[in-house]
Amino acid sequence: MSGVPTLNPFSPEAASIFHLFVAILLVMFAIFALVATLMTVAIVRYRDREGAPEARQEFGNPRLEIIWTVVPALLLAVIFVFTVRTIHASDPPAAGHAPDLRVIGHQWWWEAAYLNSGVVAANEIHIPVGHPLLLDIESADVIHDFWVPELGRKIDAVPGHPNHIWISADKPGTYLGTCAEFCGNEHAWMRIVVIAQTPADFAAWQRDQLTVPPVPLAGEAAQGAQIFRDQTCVNCHAISGTSGNKSIGPDLTHLAGRGIIAAGAAANTPENLFKWLKDPNSIKPETHMPNFQLSDAQAHALVAYMETLK
Ligand code: CUA
Repeated sequence: MSGVPTLNPFSPEAASIFHLFVAILLVMFAIFALVATLMTVAIVRYRDREGAPEARQEFGNPRLEIIWTVVPALLLAVIFVFTVRTIHASDPPAAGHAPDLRVIGHQWWWEAAYLNSGVVAANEIHIPVGHPLLLDIESADVIHDFWVPELGRKIDAVPGHPNHIWISADKPGTYLGTCAEFCGNEHAWMRIVVIAQTPADFAAWQRDQLTVPPVPLAGEAAQGAQIFRDQTCVNCHAISGTSGNKSIGPDLTHLAGRGIIAAGAAANTPENLFKWLKDPNSIKPETHMPNFQLSDAQAHALVAYMETLK
C-alpha cells in the first residue's frame, strides 16, 4: 500500500500495535511539553538579574518527591496493562489450531506451503481477506525474521524451532514485507509480497496453482524444458510434471505468474530472467543459484520455457 507501512495497519493485529504506539507517543509528548514548559518558566523567571539577592536554597521537598515518584509509576502501570493487552491482540494464541501455511525462510527466499491444498509458492503469499491464516514459521538454515508491517508483528524463523503467527488483511491489496533479521549477504533481498484477495479469488488462485502446466513439445520452449532437465536445474527446483526436487530452490511450477524473481531482487521480466540465468551473481551476489555458464541460446530457450509456466 502507501506511506510508512508501520503507520498504516491493514489488519486487526497490526492496528492493535499501531494504537498502542500512538497512545504512548501522545503520553510521551504530553510529558515532554510539561517538562519543557516548566523548564522555560524556571529559566526565565529565576534568571540572574543585576542586584538580585541570592536564590533561596531548598533541601528536599517530600511532597514533590512523592508526586514525581507516584505519577510516573502509575503511568507505567497503565502502559504495562495496555502493552499486555496489545501483546494478546497482536499475537492471538495458536494452541489448538492447525497451521494453514508453512513459511520457511531460506538464504535468501521464502517458501510458502499451503498445508490444506498442497499449493507451494515462493516469496509471494496469497491470503483470503477476512479469514486469518495461521502461519507456521520455520527456517531451513539460519535465523530469519518474517515481517509484513501493515499486517502484523515480526516473528523469527528459527531453525528447529517452529514459531506461529496469525496473518490477515482487512481489504484486498498487495502488502510488502521483508526479512527483518540479518541472515547473510543477501538479507536485504529477501522480500515478502502478501497478496490479499477476496475468498473467491483466493480459491481460484489455489486451483490455478494446483494445475500442472503442459510440457511444451516443440520450439524454443521445448528445448528449454530439455535444458532444464539436462542442466540439473531439477536437482534444486520443482516443476509439477517434472521430477524436480522440492525445497532447495523455489518451486517454479507457476513462475511466470509471479511479479518478482530472486525474492524481489528483480522484476519478473524475460530480460531479467535471462540475466539471472546467465549470471545470477549479477543480480544477487552470493546467491546459492549457481552460474551454469549457459550459452545465450540455452538461456533464451530456458526463458521461453519459464514463460510457459503460468
Ligand atoms: Cu533472511 Cu534476513
